Amino acid sequence: KRIILVGPPGCGKGTQSPIIKEDFCLCHLATGDMLRAAVAKKTPLGLQAKAAMDKGELVTDDLVVGIIDEALTRPSCSKGFILDGFPRTVVQAEKLDAMLEKQGHKVDKVLNFNVEDSVLEERITGRWIHPSSGRSYHSKFAPPKVPGIDDISGEPLIQRKDDTAEVLKSRLDAFHKQTTPVIAYYLQKGIVVDLQAEKPAKDVTSQIEKALS
Ligand code: AP5
Ligand code: ZN
Repeated sequence: KRIILVGPPGCGKGTQSPIIKEDFCLCHLATGDMLRAAVAKKTPLGLQAKAAMDKGELVTDDLVVGIIDEALTRPSCSKGFILDGFPRTVVQAEKLDAMLEKQGHKVDKVLNFNVEDSVLEERITGRWIHPSSGRSYHSKFAPPKVPGIDDISGEPLIQRKDDTAEVLKSRLDAFHKQTTPVIAYYLQKGIVVDLQAEKPAKDVTSQIEKALS
């Protein structure tokens, strides 16, 4: 299966991905996670991406298309993938189609996470993440066993630099202006499944399992 997750910041893409990945044996490619890893390591890619990310703006299409192009050739992705946070512009969607076409593949489904903007601020400002695994928690909706500590590794949790109410405004703006047209692009192809992503996380998982089985 080749699946795309699309939706605004905090809609639950990163929460649902590890579950779908296990259920359907897919690789999980999250451009945001990959970019944050590059920023942390101060690689040339990270240095180019950092300023836009800190402001809540999209990084350039070339940068993310390059990352995905490389990642899709991994053996672990040959049977199928979940793209989390990509494509986010119509140009990215077109480039992805071209890349897949070369391999004789296509996107099977686009899961569209519908959540009202007003719900997202609380989700974003209450989020805590474990950087090395990508696991995320929420101080109210999904608290860790010990506050500030990852349940599995015992390592400290951090908050993302762009998870402030202020930067969220730019991220939402980028979503509405640049990513909504991506949903229209896939609607034309008839492969979009709408999710009621304001429901509790477990309920959203059931909606996804139903859509993919
Ligand atoms: P990225 O990392 O992709 O951020 P995002 O799209 O803003 O999405 P988030 O990771 O914030 O949200 P999520 O949907 O994963 O939410 P989560 O499941 O964690 O991108 C970051 C930046 O990188 C961009 O701003 C841009 O600069 C750059 N970038 C990345 N990709 C790019 C691209 N393709 N092109 C250009 N630039 C790109 O959930 C959030 C919180 O809510 C958690 O605490 C969770 O526990 C909680 N929660 C989840 N589900 C529920 C639920 N159902 N009920 C209650 N709480 C819930
Ligand atoms: Zn995410």
